[in-house]
Formats: sequence, C-alpha cells, structure tokens
Amino acid sequence: MNRIYADFNATTPLSVVSRNSMARAFEIWGNPSSSHSHGRQANEIIEESRCFVARAAGVFPLEVVFTSGGSEANTLALMGSFFLKAPQMRLLTTTVEHSSVRDTAGLLQEQGVPVDYLQVKRSGLFDLEVFESQITEFRPTLVSVMAANNETGVLFPLKEIFQICQQRGIILHTDAVQAFGKVSPEEWNFCDLISITAHKIFGPKGAGALIVRRGTPLVATHYGGAQEIKRRGGTENVVGLLGFGGAASEISTPDQIEKVRILRDSFEKTLLETLPGVSLNGADVKRISNTSSIRFEGIASEVLLGALDLEGISVSAGSACSSGSISPSHVLLAMGLNKQEAKECLRFSWGKTTSREEVDTVLQAVIKHVTRIRDRKRKA
Ligand SMILES: Cc1ncc(COP(=O)(O)O)c(C=O)c1O
Repeated sequence: MNRIYADFNATTPLSVVSRNSMARAFEIWGNPSSSHSHGRQANEIIEESRCFVARAAGVFPLEVVFTSGGSEANTLALMGSFFLKAPQMRLLTTTVEHSSVRDTAGLLQEQGVPVDYLQVKRSGLFDLEVFESQITEFRPTLVSVMAANNETGVLFPLKEIFQICQQRGIILHTDAVQAFGKVSPEEWNFCDLISITAHKIFGPKGAGALIVRRGTPLVATHYGGAQEIKRRGGTENVVGLLGFGGAASEISTPDQIEKVRILRDSFEKTLLETLPGVSLNGADVKRISNTSSIRFEGIASEVLLGALDLEGISVSAGSACSSGSISPSHVLLAMGLNKQEAKECLRFSWGKTTSREEVDTVLQAVIKHVTRIRDRKRKA
C-alpha cells in the first residue's frame, strides 16, 4: 500500500540533500573543538551549515546557536533569560504555546518568577489593545509568542507585537518552529530570540537552533565547553547539524509555499462544501499555508484517525495521546471549544512533496468515512 502522509507539522521526510550532507559528515569525524586538521575540518563543515541556516532565516551566521532542536531552543530562550536576571524576570506568554514553552513557563513560576498568560479568542489570536494593556499592567521583561501555531497554523502579528515590545525595551522571543520554511523570514526574523528546528524543514530530528539577534543578552544553560561562542556547551552533533544545513540550503521557495496553499485551500473548500457539520479552526485569520484544523461534528477524532490510518493515510488528532486515551488539545480549549468539540478535531498538514492526487485521495476518504460513521450512529 502506498501510504499518504498528511502530518508534515509533526515531522517531515528527510530530503536527499539533507541525507547526503549527513553522509558526508560521517566521514569527517574529528572533534570540532580540536585545533589539529581533523578538528578544523569538522569545524569548517559546521560553519558551512551555520551559513546555510542563517541565510534561510535571513540572519547573520554568528547569531545562530545550534541546539538539539526546537524544544531545547525554547527552553534555552526562557531559562537563559532567567539565569541572566532571575530576581527581576517577569514572563508574559500565551495559552497556546508548544509544551516546551508552556512547561518551562510552569517551572519558572514554581521558581517564583511572575508569569502571565495572554488568552486567545475563538480566532486563535488576542487583540493587540489587550496585549498592550496587559504589558503596561504586568511589565514583563520577556515576552514569548509563537510565530505560527502547530495545531491550527494561526499566525500571530509579530511585527506589531515586536514594535510594542521594542518601545518598552522588552525582549521578544518567538517559537518559529512551524513558521520556518512556511512563511517568509521577514515576518519573524526581527525578534530578539527565535527558535527553529531541522525536522520540520526536511532535515533530521535532533538538530535545531536558537537565533540570538545581535545585542540580545542570554546566559547558557548547557555547560562543558566554549562551543557556540559559550552559549551552548557540549561537543556538537556534527551529523545532525550538517543535515540541518543541507535542509536549510533548499528551504521552500515562495512558489513551493504557494503550491501547497492552493492544494490546502481546495481541500478545505471541497470538504466544507460537501459535508455538513464541518468547521475550520482559525478560519478567519491568517494561517500558514499548509495546515487545516477541522472539526467533524459528532465524530470522535480517534475514530476518524483510525479509519484513515487503515486506508493508509496519516493525519493527526492534534492532541496528546497517552495510554490509549486522547486528551483534548490545550490549543483548541484555549480557543473556546469545549472538551467534546476539541475531541472532534483532526489536523491535516501538507508539504512541498504533496501531490494533487494525494490530496484528492484524502478528500474522498474523509468524505466516505465521515458519511459512513454518521450513518452508522444514526441507525444505532
Ligand atoms: C511550535 C513547535 N515548537 C517546538 C517544537 C519542538 O521542536 P523539536 O521537536 O525540534 O524539539 C515543535 C514540534 O512539534 C513545534 O511544533
């Protein structure tokens, strides 16, 4: 069976360029910190990768701090700010962040750091006036707002958010893990701290970066050496970083992004026109071009997900699955869906390798199974 993958927000397949870059790294096994030629060679290829990543993100190579991925980059941004000015730190973030930001914020709160949350509306966004008044009242030293939400694809207005923060001397961190490769970097690369990862852009898992824009203060959270200009100690994952560089060297072009948008939009339009009781989360606001979070009224997400899986189609319930039970997504609950509604949502996310035929096959399968499951429920 030829499986169809519609879960590119979870991870992406490894590109040939990324794989070949990693194969090259297996031959260059020196320690990048050694000053002899074996070490210098390894160091050189890491720096080459850093340039590819920096170019794809539209920043300077020296601003790229390699990490083990997006979660570590998020943790470094928040904890590194805490270590820098623990007694004065005050964090403002949103209720829809990835768990790596949410859980770190929770830990900071336990350490006595005042943390406040921006509540989103049904659209998935908050009002800028509310943001401004919350900032004035709460006086954060660090604001952390993701660029694009992983479950709904909703894009936050970072330019306006940055302007408000900059006027008040507040550092802005953004988790751009889902925006990198899906939105022009000009939409997010002005932030002070930016998290990205390789495995959402057709690179390997276990490699990522925190971009620390020039002049942004930050303290390391990993120690053990002067790597990454003392901002992240530890011998580098040379193979993973080469794979990251390879993937970044062929970051999606505007044409590729647009092609995905056309497929995604036609998928949504046909579904909404064909099936009753179907709604789109984040329908009325700007979203990344590849994501649809859809509620199928009356159908538990795991039932539809299972039926599609049996047909060879991989999608996501957009919620954490633990010990067999699917818990409702905190993102959808934060947007005002109740538990029942949140448990009726599936996330479809496409990539630059997705074909029209694949999207059409998924469409037909979704229509068939939603109709069948509802008919069966009606008769029961
Ligand atoms: C928005 C967002 N932030 C952070 C991460 C974590 O990245 P990584 O898997 O590289 O740790 C993810 C991964 O799903 C994500 O979607």
